[in-house]
Amino acid sequence: MPESALLAVSFGAAARDYDRYRSGPPAQALDWVVPADCRCVLDLAAGTGLLTRQLADLVEDVVAVEPDARMREVLALTCPEATVLAGTAEAVPLPDRRVEAVTVSAAWHWMDPAAALAEIARVLTPGGTLGVLYTRRDRRVPWVDRLDAFVHREMGTDDRIGDLIRRMNEGPWLPEGVPFTATEAHAVSWTAVLTVEEIVAMFGTYSRFITLPEGRKRELAEAIEAEVRASVPTWQGQVLMPMVCYCWRTRLTADSPSGALS
Ligand SMILES: C[S@@+](CC[C@H](N)C(=O)[O-])C[C@H]1O[C@@H](n2cnc3c(N)ncnc32)[C@H](O)[C@@H]1O
Repeated sequence: MPESALLAVSFGAAARDYDRYRSGPPAQALDWVVPADCRCVLDLAAGTGLLTRQLADLVEDVVAVEPDARMREVLALTCPEATVLAGTAEAVPLPDRRVEAVTVSAAWHWMDPAAALAEIARVLTPGGTLGVLYTRRDRRVPWVDRLDAFVHREMGTDDRIGDLIRRMNEGPWLPEGVPFTATEAHAVSWTAVLTVEEIVAMFGTYSRFITLPEGRKRELAEAIEAEVRASVPTWQGQVLMPMVCYCWRTRLTADSPSGALS
């Protein structure tokens, strides 16, 4: 299996920690991405349901599609209101025109965009919306950038998602010829109050960390903890972590027959 495919299916091994230590998007981001009158939404690549649970508070009919059975198990337990289905973005197990909105949180980079957009266009009602979200530490703040750069170096990776976010923010982010229109970008910032232990545990939920051998995981967790204690400003023993949710929204053209992509 290619490395990217192995990483894409790695999260289930840390599903409970993922659910506990990762941040979901803030309410303001959902308000911006999901139309106020939406009656049915698909959360694609739903993971353990960090976003799905918030959608269930806003929308009556919530469908969550997730390929990893271990993530789906946590999702079904924590969000009984949602219909949870096994599936991928490239083969969505729903009939044509089933939902009025689709959301993708922290997962666009795992998908084949052309195949995913074709499926999203197929399952959306005409004029339906697609919202893509990325919630992360705010690397525009210098100490956050230094900490993230340290962790990426230690894990032996570049910041692929950071590059994707920059590209998506800089200009139109949909391929030519897809039946979506009115693409807009937005960012919501806030501060999360975290303990050092929570920050270390949160880095442990990234695919590059999850796929390391156990011994290396322990070493890396210790190195991250030492780095946080040495370089991160604390307030009453806690870290005020600058966070940002980058959001994009776009709309299926109203006259698009389902399955319009070739
Ligand atoms: C970083 S997690 C994001 C989960 C959730 N949306 C959230 O915000 O926490 C990425 C998820 O994408 C799923 N995934 C990976 N490849 C996928 C694909 N081709 N189609 C749908 N989901 C996929 C993984 O199983 C994982 O649950």
